[in-house]
Amino acid sequence: MIVLGVESSCDETGLALYDTEQGLLAHALHSQVEMHAEYGGVVPELASRDHIRRVLPLTENVLKTANITLQDIDAIAYTQGPGLSGALLVGTSFAESLAFSLQIPTINVHHLEGHLLAPLLEANPPAFPFVALLVSGGHSQLMRVDGIGEYELLGDTLDDAAGEAFDKTAKLLGLGYPGGPALSKLAQSGKARFKLPRPLLNSGDLNFSFSGLKTAVLTLVNQHQPLDATTTADIAWEFQEAVTEILTLKCMTALRETGLDNLVVSGGVGANSKLREKLNAATKRKLCKVSYPRLEFCTDNGAMIAFAGAMRLKAMQGNGNKNYGFSVRPRWDLAELQKPTI
Ligand code: KG4
Ligand code: ZN
Repeated sequence: MIVLGVESSCDETGLALYDTEQGLLAHALHSQVEMHAEYGGVVPELASRDHIRRVLPLTENVLKTANITLQDIDAIAYTQGPGLSGALLVGTSFAESLAFSLQIPTINVHHLEGHLLAPLLEANPPAFPFVALLVSGGHSQLMRVDGIGEYELLGDTLDDAAGEAFDKTAKLLGLGYPGGPALSKLAQSGKARFKLPRPLLNSGDLNFSFSGLKTAVLTLVNQHQPLDATTTADIAWEFQEAVTEILTLKCMTALRETGLDNLVVSGGVGANSKLREKLNAATKRKLCKVSYPRLEFCTDNGAMIAFAGAMRLKAMQGNGNKNYGFSVRPRWDLAELQKPTI
């Protein structure tokens, strides 16, 4: 079965074709980063309008790359939520109406399920069950994953998500938007000089808290005005060190507490090389396996949506939705998902 995946929950329009026999056939992405950069963050209305402009050309692009036609598609999977409602509406209405015209089923995918399963698109995919660390702009969660739709929340952030903390700290350091990659790049030229707190490091549970870290950075920034390039890089270094140390320790605790030896990392912050370095070393020490999506599939993309949709469709033996009505779910708790059944 060939599934077209449509992602439009935030500032990236992603389209992909996934074949349950042959794997990923094609994927294409348009990032709106440059458009939003001058505003210092995502402008929802601009995001929606840009998704409208991109969705058709990107669909044509993936069909051409895979050398197939619309008639070869068996189902359409799309991100129904969570995300920006206007942005979600573009992908959702496009997917449902195209499916209606082709009379094929649709699968409404949870964006985070897409992220969570993205590492399974790689060669030698991890087997269920595993512990998943999902670290994106909106979420920082540790989960036990026993199968598609079988997710148990082990820990969550009490305030800012890890990506959000990277973005806000980058802003304090004058690094612009999106902050995570810029801060991480700058940290490479920094060194150990400051000491920031490690919130909830030894809390005894698997929860995170990153907003205090951001406040501590603000205090440092105020104490070192005017900020010179070396100080900025040193603050970035220590901030990245603090976040990655906390994430790594909590992952190892989650593995120990669940008795599992398989860790999967996904979401935009999963692209962070310092985090990967620390997780690789820690899991190696404990003889555990760690898997990541390729870098381009850490952040939002259509491939993870096509894949999650294809997995659900397979479990439902090809029986997706065929009522073609639609609504979006800007807020949608992953815990509400269920194991797909026929
Ligand atoms: O998963 P994603 O594309 O979007 C959400 O669903 O939120 O994640 C985007 C987040 C942003 O906060 C961005 O700053 C962060 O991931 N990010 C990074 C890196 N690349 C992206 N954070 C730290 N280091 C990176 N290399
Ligand atoms: Zn995302």
